[in-house]
Amino acid sequence: MPSVFSALHWLVWRNPTRRAQNLLRFAEIEADGGRDLVRAAEVTPDPVLRKLFLKHALDEQRHADLFRGRGLQLIRSLRADAASAVKADWMAPGERGLDDLHVEAEGDEALLAFLHLSEKSAAKDFANYVAVLGADPPTQKVFEKVLHDETFHMTYTRAQLMRVAPKRAGRRIWMARLRRFWKAYLRLASALAGLIGAVVLTAQYLIVLPLFALAAKRAAKREGEGWSPIAPARNGALDRQY
Ligand SMILES: [Fe+2]
Ligand SMILES: [Fe+2]
Repeated sequence: MPSVFSALHWLVWRNPTRRAQNLLRFAEIEADGGRDLVRAAEVTPDPVLRKLFLKHALDEQRHADLFRGRGLQLIRSLRADAASAVKADWMAPGERGLDDLHVEAEGDEALLAFLHLSEKSAAKDFANYVAVLGADPPTQKVFEKVLHDETFHMTYTRAQLMRVAPKRAGRRIWMARLRRFWKAYLRLASALAGLIGAVVLTAQYLIVLPLFALAAKRAAKREGEGWSPIAPARNGALDRQY
């Protein structure tokens, strides 16, 4: 029996417009990851890691090309209005680079632990997408190809972490897991804050503002039309400001 999650994945990938949009977004993220890995290869003092990071960067760039290629193919098959909606959303700033990584600030150990967890979660997600994309064999094939590489990335990062820090590997992975958890919490909290803000402002607009409007209308009714005389006590010479 399909789980709730696979039903959700199926829903997310069912619509071709959203499918194209996701593929183009993934292409950006993969290319961003590739650039980070080139930088990691430049700064690492370890020659084995340098070679692996460069190979990894090439893989991520290839994934970006695969996702972009399939995304653009899908856009070309859409109706004109649906296709322009995809482009507008894709160009929107702020959608890119989910987990910005400061490669220079990370040592090799922290970087390997971070990469291992990211690749593991990507491999799991892509396997789920392969399972629900039966109705779109070309997109399914793209994910199968990428999944094969992500599984390799997940394995080599763990093996290299064991090589460079055999005693600290477990702790490093736990620290990376906590950081990912914290980032996920911050993303959720800011989304929730946005939602609460929208609800409170809408409630103010629909409930509080009409009350003020009603009070202003009633006060206006009590006011007589035209000029009205003021009390003699306030009707002195204009020799002061108030
Ligand atoms: Fe990738
Ligand atoms: Fe990867």
